[in-house]
Amino acid sequence: MAAAVPSIEKAAAGIKSNAVLDFLRKPKQLLINGKWVSAKSGKTFETINPANEEVLALAAEGDKADVDEAVKAARKALEGKWSSINPHQRAGYLLKIADLIEAHADELGTLESLNNGMAISLAKGMASGAADTFRYYAGWATKIYGETNPSDPSVFNYTLREPVGVCGQIIPWNGPIAMFAWKIAPALACGNVSIIKPAEQTPLTALRLGELLLEAGIPDGVVNIITGFGETAGAAIAEHPDIDKVAFTGSTEVGKLILKASAGNLKRVSLELGGKSPNIVFADANLDQCIPTSLFGFTMLSGQVCCAGTRVFVQRDFHDEFVDKLAKQASQAKAGDPLDPKTTIGPLVSKEQFDRVKGYLDIGKKEGAQPKLGGEVRNGKGYFVDPTIFTNVKNNMRIAREEIFGPVASVIPFKDENDAVLQGNDTTYGLAAAVWTNDVSRAHKVARALKAGTVWVNCYNNIDPISPFGGYKQSGIGRELGKHSIELYTQIKSVYLKLN
Ligand code: NAI
Ligand code: MG
Repeated sequence: MAAAVPSIEKAAAGIKSNAVLDFLRKPKQLLINGKWVSAKSGKTFETINPANEEVLALAAEGDKADVDEAVKAARKALEGKWSSINPHQRAGYLLKIADLIEAHADELGTLESLNNGMAISLAKGMASGAADTFRYYAGWATKIYGETNPSDPSVFNYTLREPVGVCGQIIPWNGPIAMFAWKIAPALACGNVSIIKPAEQTPLTALRLGELLLEAGIPDGVVNIITGFGETAGAAIAEHPDIDKVAFTGSTEVGKLILKASAGNLKRVSLELGGKSPNIVFADANLDQCIPTSLFGFTMLSGQVCCAGTRVFVQRDFHDEFVDKLAKQASQAKAGDPLDPKTTIGPLVSKEQFDRVKGYLDIGKKEGAQPKLGGEVRNGKGYFVDPTIFTNVKNNMRIAREEIFGPVASVIPFKDENDAVLQGNDTTYGLAAAVWTNDVSRAHKVARALKAGTVWVNCYNNIDPISPFGGYKQSGIGRELGKHSIELYTQIKSVYLKLN
């Protein structure tokens, strides 16, 4: 089927920003070796605005042949100019990128909202957050120390922390700007080069960020951007014999494929995958804070968040009161126009996600769960789904075990601390968890007992580049952010020098 010609007037109706419109009108090409180029195959694919289902843009459909070119360019950059750039200069590039992102945060946020459906206030916040991430890792570039070791007096032994090399970075559609920053900023801080592949649903902000990287003066080949599909471009990155490391954020299913594909040349692999996070509410919780934050926990980005708090465990004695209050608050949070600054929930990203969420709503009802609120998707244009709260859920039902990625929560009662921890941990995932209580000892005990990479106490969805993020169990391998990304993007060399 021939791709439709995008109608920016329709797809981006209401957008007045010339910067956004000018960008939308430009061809969307691949960034290889510092140049914008078409895919070798000449193919393109459609980028849809999920709020109105119109074609926003046609992006170049990169595949294995383009990945090969990008890897050659990256390798050349790594072994050439980039390796001679000192850490202060690397920090300088990251600071420049941060300033450019900050200066273009409104434009980037608008593009993100158009392409992903994310509420614009959230999208702009995420763009500013990306600037913070670049600044944070700019600080690291000059602080990647080795060690001197207390070795035999006849030798001097020290370690060097060196870049891993050519990194393949495959990112999802749910937080495209943030994910770009989480991957690119630490990779560059440590002196690596990258081939990054945005998700096929959301190529636009990565391409605009690519322009900003060039404006910041990043040398040719240091960052290459390949738009395209997972099964072709993504798989080519995962399998590539000359890529040294792959960093992936996305589904657990694809994470496993990537791990297998990495075996060919034993790539370093870091994976940030799915979740089914428990949000545990004790009867002594401060409900004025807990209710709106728990709602945010499963509806932020329409629930398309890996750490979404979709299993809400509530102490039995006050289960009914809690459910009534949560449903009352959630009933006011209807999905709406993502470009309206008052909107908190936009549409889902794609028809595929819309159908998937609809499927799970049906599964939940068939399993015997009762929708206290919602339970249906919205008809009409755009992939809008209002919040659903299921009660009468058992932790072994599919809706409580599988990642839905929509604004859908299952409320499950528990008896006491032990029961809360047992049920909370009864999942194949372990990305995040939360506990609500005013008892400080209990908070610490439960935080320790929960098998999750992040535990929030009396809050939800706090994420800061200073603190590690990643999963226990099938939620991933490795930790990103903080000093942990420095571990992921460096390798250690031990040098022995014989003293005469
Ligand atoms: P996905 O895991 O297929 O896509 C994520 C990224 O991986 C995209 O860039 C995609 O092009 C790439 N990819 C896909 N197949 C690949 C392959 N064989 N080799 C290399 N790269 C590949 O996720 P999808 O299909 O968009 O969403 C399905 C479900 O996955 C969602 O409903 C959600 O449950 C989960 N998911 C979790 C995310 C997270 O943040 N942990 C992000 C996106 C999806
Ligand atoms: Mg997929």
